[in-house]
This record gives sequence, C-alpha cells and structure tokens, in this order.
Amino acid sequence: MQQPKVLIVDLGSQYTLVIGRTIRELGFRTVIFSAERAEKWLTTNQPSAIILSGGSASVYGENAPTIPPAMLSAGTPVLGICYGMQLIAHMLGGEVTPHRGNKEYGEAHVILDRKDELFRGMQTDNVVWASHGDSVTKVPEGFEVIARSDKSLSIAAMSNPKKKLWGIQFHPEVTHTQNGKRILHRFLTGICHCRMDWEPQDAITEIQDEVGRVAQGKKFLIGFSGGVDSSTLSAIISPALGRNLLAVAINTGALRKDEVKEIRENAKAAGVRLKVINAAKRFQKAIGKTTDAERKRKRFKKLYGRILEETAKDFGADFIVQGSLATDIIESGKAGNAALIKSHHNVGLNLNVKELHPFRNIFKYEVRDLARALGLPASVSERQPFPGPGLFLRIRGAAPRPDKLTITRWADAEVTEILKKHGVYDGLSQLIVGLNCTKAVGIKGDARVYGYVVEVRAVKTSDFMTAKGCHFSDEVELEICNMVTKHPKVVHVAFYPTNKPPATTEFE
Ligand code: XMP
Repeated sequence: MQQPKVLIVDLGSQYTLVIGRTIRELGFRTVIFSAERAEKWLTTNQPSAIILSGGSASVYGENAPTIPPAMLSAGTPVLGICYGMQLIAHMLGGEVTPHRGNKEYGEAHVILDRKDELFRGMQTDNVVWASHGDSVTKVPEGFEVIARSDKSLSIAAMSNPKKKLWGIQFHPEVTHTQNGKRILHRFLTGICHCRMDWEPQDAITEIQDEVGRVAQGKKFLIGFSGGVDSSTLSAIISPALGRNLLAVAINTGALRKDEVKEIRENAKAAGVRLKVINAAKRFQKAIGKTTDAERKRKRFKKLYGRILEETAKDFGADFIVQGSLATDIIESGKAGNAALIKSHHNVGLNLNVKELHPFRNIFKYEVRDLARALGLPASVSERQPFPGPGLFLRIRGAAPRPDKLTITRWADAEVTEILKKHGVYDGLSQLIVGLNCTKAVGIKGDARVYGYVVEVRAVKTSDFMTAKGCHFSDEVELEICNMVTKHPKVVHVAFYPTNKPPATTEFE
C-alpha cells in the first residue's frame, strides 16, 4: 500500500474523521492516529503534512491530549485546528484563556490576512463554523496573527512560516465554513507541496488488502442487513474469500414490510452466500417492557452480538466483519474522545471473535460511490439506511410489542408508497415513520377513540453528521393523514422537520 503523506493527529474531536474525508475528497491519501500512535508511526514514516485535530478538552485540563514537542520542530508543516491551534500556542509559550461569556458555537465571521500563504487568493471576509470554549489570547514568539473574528477581534488564526507552523481556530473541514476546503487544499499544496495520490476507488483495493492480510485459510462472517454498507462491503470482499465468507441476516421482528425478500435480493447482487436467522421471539423477550431509548439499544446490541457469536461458532468463523461507518463510530463515542450520542448496535460489541470494520473511516456517500463503481444495482447503491434495531426504535411511549410493530410496519409501507407515487421518496436521504403511543383523542364514526400518533420525518443529508429536516406539500401531507388514520388505532399524524442538530435522524 502506498504510504499516506498526510498525518492527522486525533486530539478528541467529533470532526477528526471529517477532516480525513475532506482531505480524501481533495485527492490526498491520509492516515489518522492518536498522538501516541502518531509518534511511533513517525519513527518509520515521513509525512509531508501534519494536521492536529480539534478536541473537547482545555489545554490546561487534567490529562489534556498533547503531542511530542518534536512534532513541532521536525520541519514538517503543521496545521493545528481549534484545540490543535491552542495546543501549539500553549506548547510554544503563547497564552490560551477560557472564552469570556458563552462558548463560541456555530457561525462566526472572520477577516483573513491574504498575505499569508494559507489564505492566498481568498476573499478577506468569510463566514466560518467555530466551536470552542478556550481561545488563544497571545500568540507565541515568532508567530503572526493572520485572521481575527470581525466583531470581538479575537485571534482566529496564527502562523510562523519560518517554523512551518499554522493554527486556525475555526473548522475548515465543516461544510458551513466558507473556503474551508480551499484552506485545507492551500495548506496541502501551497505549503506542504503534497501531490494528489488518492482516488475514491482506491478504498476497494485497500479494503481487499486489509482483509487479504489476515485471510489465508480463515473463515469470515459478515453481519448483513441488505443495506448499502453491508452489501457493498460483501461485494468488495467476497471475490477473494469465496466460500470462506458467509453473510448472516437476523430477522429481529422489527424489520419493514418485505425486508427479508430485499435482503435476499441484495445478497445475490453482492455475490455472497446468505443465512437468514429468525430471532423475532428472542428479541421481543430481550427488549421486554422497556421504553427507554438507550436501554432498548443496549439490550438489542447484546442479543445481536450473542447471535453473531453463535452463528460464527457454527460456521467456524475466525473473523466477524461489519459495515459500520465513521458516523456510527463517532456517535457511539468510540472515535477518540468524541461524546456518546447513541449506542449503535454494531459498534463496540466486544465479541469473542476478532472483529473487522473496514468502513470505519468512511462516510455513507463514499460507500454509495463504491457501490456504483462496483456496478451494484440502484436498489443497493441508493438504498436509504435503516438502523439495525429497526422499528424497535420507532415506537415511543410504550414497549415495542408485536401489535405496535405491526401498526408501525403498515404505516411505514403506506407512507413510503405515497411518497414514491408523488416522486418525493427518491430525493430523500431517509424516511422515518414512527408510532407515538402517548395516546391522543380522536373521533371516528362519531365515537371517541383514544389512539396513537403516527410520526413522519424525512431528512436530506450526505453524511448523516448533520441533516436538513424536510417539509412536504399540503397535498402529500393530506394524503398521508387520510391514509394512516384509516387504521382504527391511529388518530393523529405528526410531521417532524427539525434539522440535525439539534434533533437526530431517528427519534431514539
Ligand atoms: P442518527 O439518529 O444518529 O442516525 O442521526 C444517523 C444514521 O444512523 C442510523 N442509525 C443506525 N444504524 N444501527 C445502525 O445500523 C444503529 O444502531 C443506528 N442508529 C441510528 C440512522 O437511521 C441514520 O441513518
């Protein structure tokens, strides 16, 4: 494998993997390590660029992540982002202080000094995305301030070109930052003289290499949901593994209408042998009466892991492969020091069989590109995600018993059909149809009905880190309301167009 020339040091940010992805989009191979692993890697590798990520700590905090001082004096250009910049300032004798008033979070305006190499050719006035509690209030000796926020005049970027050190307080990797990608491109090409060495399809050979390194005579089990991730991953690894690879799909009892049929079709398209396990009763028992979102997820995850282990044992598998993505890993709090948002069912299972997560650094739209490159049908490459715990997570306010699952499954199929009929469905990144069992009063045939609320939500997004909530036309909403309230137990329909953040995609 070609050695990456861009080293990203993860100092605990939710956005570290987004930096990696942005750099790949720019055409550069990159590697992400914690500070300790980066130090080791540097003993045998010579990158052309080092990027220090952001992080949630304060440089003065106990156990705050840090880097070896040699990283700042070896002559390799370094760009510190947010916490990364504060760390450079702190280590070289500058001053970092807690932000006065509220933390700066979200949109900010900065004035860039275009004379600096990093901002050459860019407009001076930029809207950027910032998220920090501390700020650099005095730059270290030898550094210049190269950007300030337009209102408070606080320091937004600094540089010491002689020592090849740069720091920016805002996040260039976030799409809301104007010129963010250009800043990273400028750093890599204008300052570090990196050459483009990455094509999206390279991920296919890298994954085949990763699996190939451990494959000799070994058996592999892949958790197969029929979604774009597990189908694409199966298609990538199945040619080399052949009959040593078995895909396992678990019917949890919380799947959508016709889902098992679609799973079978997608396994065929991916060229992988499939075993479907019916475990609806076991999941029903495991989830029991709980209505708490995290508890449901944890119980689901435990049984899911156990069934995978049992199947692996039967098959004699040496490895379990999963299609978990960067987003799942970040939000499960397993990427650096990123906070737990929700426990994804396929991350951190700690199985008694070795696990491989070859998609751990990539994002949904990158997987879709790979699926298209592999020639998989649109029913795979464009498939909307559906979470492993499925409809269990879409029933709120009551235990997700079979009767409620049946109503939710029916409503999901009806809403999907209406949206397809109106040509709306294909433009959505994900549709979520749920059942709110906190009862509401309705009137049907002149009688009072104390029933459920069907919840409809759709989002548009490319990476599911952030998402825009969708609105439907009056006509579509009316048709949905008329259709789903035909169910004797459904009395209201609610539409949820909230963006992520502050909402998440799923209700739970
Ligand atoms: P959230 O709700 O966190 O969801 O904004 C982001 C994306 O991930 C899906 N999701 C999951 N997928 N197992 C999965 O395979 C899970 O436990 C899980 N939880 C959320 C969600 O449907 C959306 O596409």
